[in-house]
Amino acid sequence: MSDDLRDEETYLAARAEQLAARMETEGVSRKGLLQLVGSALPLLAGGKPLAAPAPAAARTVGPPIRKPLPAEWFVPFGTNAETRWDSLAEVGYEVPNDRFFVRNHTATPTIDHRTWRLRVFGDGLRLRPGAGDAVEFSLRDLKRLRSRKLTALIECAGNGRSFFAGQQGTPAYGTQWALGGVGVAEWRGVPLSEVLERSGITKAAVDVLPQGLDANVVTGGVDLGKVRRPLPVDKALDDVLLAYEMNGVPLPPDHGFPVRLVVPGWVGIASVKWLGQIEVSTRPLFSPWNTTSYRMFGPDYPVDAPPLTNQPVKSALELPRGAVLPLGRRTTLTGRAWSGTAAIRRVEVSTDRGATWAAAKLYGPNRPGAWARWKFDVEPRSPGEHEVWVCATDEEGRSQPLSVPFNTFGYLYSAVVRHPVVVA
Ligand code: MTE
Repeated sequence: MSDDLRDEETYLAARAEQLAARMETEGVSRKGLLQLVGSALPLLAGGKPLAAPAPAAARTVGPPIRKPLPAEWFVPFGTNAETRWDSLAEVGYEVPNDRFFVRNHTATPTIDHRTWRLRVFGDGLRLRPGAGDAVEFSLRDLKRLRSRKLTALIECAGNGRSFFAGQQGTPAYGTQWALGGVGVAEWRGVPLSEVLERSGITKAAVDVLPQGLDANVVTGGVDLGKVRRPLPVDKALDDVLLAYEMNGVPLPPDHGFPVRLVVPGWVGIASVKWLGQIEVSTRPLFSPWNTTSYRMFGPDYPVDAPPLTNQPVKSALELPRGAVLPLGRRTTLTGRAWSGTAAIRRVEVSTDRGATWAAAKLYGPNRPGAWARWKFDVEPRSPGEHEVWVCATDEEGRSQPLSVPFNTFGYLYSAVVRHPVVVA
């Protein structure tokens, strides 16, 4: 596997044909696959994206990520950077903006908030006579609407992907995240439902398509267009936020300034940053991000597996891998556990490779769609190499399994992660 192909988009562009051929040998007809991803393949073949250009200009200059990425807080991966879990031991419930992970398909753009407009258009709107073909909101318009605060996590669907290789011996394509592609913040903004209602959404609307202002995603010479992923109207009208603040300050450039979506519980790709436009449609909409990626592909999944929605239950230790624990002395291990949809019911820890488990103590807030912090005392008795295993269960009864079925792009790795430690 070449390094290039570890990047998910490069892989998608270069391997769309092979994917079709392989599925054919696995009993799925090429015709079936083409029907399945019908509206995405013209894009892969170099067609122009259908969506209209957004009105506000965005420029991209300089490095793909703007904020400093000190080595004690981040592991950089090109256009992405994962938060080091051991750096979270010293922070509160929310991840400070300067430590929050970044996942950019291309690069953080420069957007002038004074000329920025959100354009809402499509056949799912009833526009007022004389209103033109779209409704536009400036940042000031949005800030005049009643705001709402929401504490929610954003997690990359590929978070934990490296453990498909590291624990299961089946490497998956894409950025090799450990567990730091996740963070919780307090977001403030306007409910998307409010903006859609004000734009004249009708009962006939079924999908909305938010699109970012960052540069087109071009991989292997193939232009996939701007980052955009359809949302079913039910979710769009439920709990989605158009956020303009993150942890009490305007969104930082890397996290979507001036406005991003926050789609609670869902895979991070749904939370489109640098929002420029939203199409409201009476027909189901498609983009590469809900057809050829962000769906499960692999021998254990049906070819018509639906686009990914909710994040599963997971947990992590706020400890470096290979950390040294003092022999015969009590040490308090800390960590966090989370689930896309529910609060955390319990966290169990095993220091004997799963033979026995003991309950960790949950403390602080435990919000559905965010996370719960936990602690667990250990007093190691035998020197040498050991593992700490953590297993979380959410209020809907979902527990972390010991392994998960492989999928080609390594999404939703929710198995118990074996954390190596050295007792000395
Ligand atoms: N929105 C745009 N416009 N461009 C992007 O590259 N990346 C998505 C999502 N929204 C992305 C985007 C992905 S895959 C994730 S996981 C989250 O943003 C990451 O949000 P963060 O960088 O603020 O942590």
